[in-house]
Amino acid sequence: MKDTLSIKDHLGVIVDPSNNQTLLENQAIRYINVDEDNVVQLIIGVYKLDDTVKKTLNRAIAKVIKLDLGFQGLKIEFEPLKKATSVLNEAKNIVYIGVASGKGGVGKSTVAVNLAVALTRLGKRTAIIDADIYGSSVPQLMNVAVETPSADEEEKIIPFKNYDVELISTAFFLQPDQPIMWRGPMLGKMLNHFFYDVAWHKDTEFIVVDLPPGTGDVAMDIQKLIPQCHMLIITTPHHSASNVAVKAGFGAKQLEHPILGVVENLAGIPTPNGLNPIFGEGGGETVANKLETNVLSQIPIELPSDPNTGVYDMNESNGVAFLGLANKLLKILKDKA
Ligand SMILES: Nc1ncnc2c1ncn2[C@@H]1O[C@H](COP(=O)(O)OP(=O)(O)OP(=O)(O)O)[C@@H](O)[C@H]1O
Ligand SMILES: [Mg+2]
Repeated sequence: MKDTLSIKDHLGVIVDPSNNQTLLENQAIRYINVDEDNVVQLIIGVYKLDDTVKKTLNRAIAKVIKLDLGFQGLKIEFEPLKKATSVLNEAKNIVYIGVASGKGGVGKSTVAVNLAVALTRLGKRTAIIDADIYGSSVPQLMNVAVETPSADEEEKIIPFKNYDVELISTAFFLQPDQPIMWRGPMLGKMLNHFFYDVAWHKDTEFIVVDLPPGTGDVAMDIQKLIPQCHMLIITTPHHSASNVAVKAGFGAKQLEHPILGVVENLAGIPTPNGLNPIFGEGGGETVANKLETNVLSQIPIELPSDPNTGVYDMNESNGVAFLGLANKLLKILKDKA
């Protein structure tokens, strides 16, 4: 993991002769992986895909990877970058919020979806990337049919939309029951398209990313692809979830992704005397203390009254709870800016 970060730093200063900007300025380093034979695999975006440009970049990159950093080998794939006027430029203003949990089934997707809807309700144009390659549930939670999206004339993917929130999901590109063999560049490539080649609404301000559960390679590889990602860590009150959520948080820290805070989901059944903590207590606080951050919200156990959706209405108490969470996040992000 350390390797890929330092690779990015070293490659970032190389200048792309097609527009005289560095690879970092061009956001051109689209995928980095080091395989078990110590071979570095890269996908590099260039504005002009001609042989001279490729040759110059190849030479400069090979020097860094093999001579300076001492890796065994190098495989580079070049991809065209779209015009400077396209989403790449606009993407600089988009704030990514990654939602991670470590453990599965704790309500990560529920939080991601309802946070996106809440930000929209607060007047912030928000989209969701469902990057969970194991069990994507975002389309279902947002009541969006699973279909293959079409592309616009610039070959950008046109997202689906419901609740005024645009959505792109791994489920739209994977066949049902398709085994997950999407390791390495294959998976990286699909997700890269999610981060760079979606025709989001031009005023999009936030993109919430539902990350896969787990603290291993896949979860980390996906996080590495996200340009600049603020993280929200989800846990339940139970220590079995909080122990793993801490690991997910440390993983995010290692990638230098700032942690916005912790959400404790399934925090108890609402009663007139407060929450009845049927799943235990203290998980959120444990995670927040270990990650040196705060519990931003405790979301009670409540099912949406409409069984066809995972989105809480504003007349349901969880709808209000998520609005509170969105408000807090906006404040934290404003203070950080
Ligand atoms: N606050 C809540 N109150 C009641 N039910 C909830 C709540 N949060 C989540 N659930 C339910 O718990 C189940 C798991 O939630 P969800 O799919 O959001 O979790 P996840 O962490 O994304 O799971 P996975 O690891 O499978 O992606 C779903 O059936 C969801 O409807
Ligand atoms: Mg999920």
